[in-house]
Amino acid sequence: MALNDPSPPAGAAPDWTIPQDWAAYTPAEHATWDRLFERQAKMLPDRVVPEFMAGLDVLRMDKPGIPDFEALSERLMKATGWQVVAVPGLVPDRVFFDHLANRRFVAGNFIRTPDQIDYLQEPDVFHDVFGHVPLLAHPVFADYMQAYGQGGLRADGLGAIERLSRLYWYTVEFGLIRQGGDLKLYGAGIVSSHGESIYALDDPSPNRIGFDLRRIMQTEYRIDDYQQSYFVIDSFEDLLRQTIETDFAPLYAALDGQPDFAVDTLLPTDRIYTHGTQAYARDKIRQ
Ligand code: PHE
Ligand code: FE
Repeated sequence: MALNDPSPPAGAAPDWTIPQDWAAYTPAEHATWDRLFERQAKMLPDRVVPEFMAGLDVLRMDKPGIPDFEALSERLMKATGWQVVAVPGLVPDRVFFDHLANRRFVAGNFIRTPDQIDYLQEPDVFHDVFGHVPLLAHPVFADYMQAYGQGGLRADGLGAIERLSRLYWYTVEFGLIRQGGDLKLYGAGIVSSHGESIYALDDPSPNRIGFDLRRIMQTEYRIDDYQQSYFVIDSFEDLLRQTIETDFAPLYAALDGQPDFAVDTLLPTDRIYTHGTQAYARDKIRQ
């Protein structure tokens, strides 16, 4: 780590991990997990990729209560060699990338309060574990996440973290995929949100655009509300192949100083699945 990186908070290890302290969760906190889990488990089956549902199943995530990271990691390790480790909240970029590069997924150990059921800014254990972990049991997606971590360490050296983080945002967090002629969900930020799980597939507002690496790296994103554009991959294999076969360094260099595209931009070169009305974002602003 560079000398100017912030140091971990008291009680955290040098790699920023902390004990999950599973025994400390209150019955009310487990109940919050159960409530969120049931709502999503009911709604997702026709919307999410079957690989996600298979992950919930092999990892036995349907057991009531907040998962114990140790037991979860044991199953995940058997499936794809990944582990889930607890951290106090957001960690510095290099720490995050280093964990991913070593097949460790960092998860917040706290859970949202009942008044935050539908919306919160900081990722909690429901977003991190329910949203992200099931697909880590899928071998191709698991490799993509590790490659992303390695790419992150490299991007940091090239001053290109912001470009690379857009790829994470529009795939890992808010990605859509085309399967058998239908669009399906796979991004963790969507599948952990009841409202966005419906909006991302059904609402006429957002653009839905074919995946394009360079285009994504030039596109801004919003962290405060539902996305105004989603990008659609053809398959996890295609996502992995394109990202590992492309050397990002020349791409970062070529994009340096180029203007960014706004969140609602459509380009003549886009492969358009939906030309969004953007009504949702427009109506919000007027309120
Ligand atoms: N190929 C990328 C690079 O040259 C690394 C990478 C792979 C980044 C997969 C993201 C996802 O930096
Ligand atoms: Fe996330």
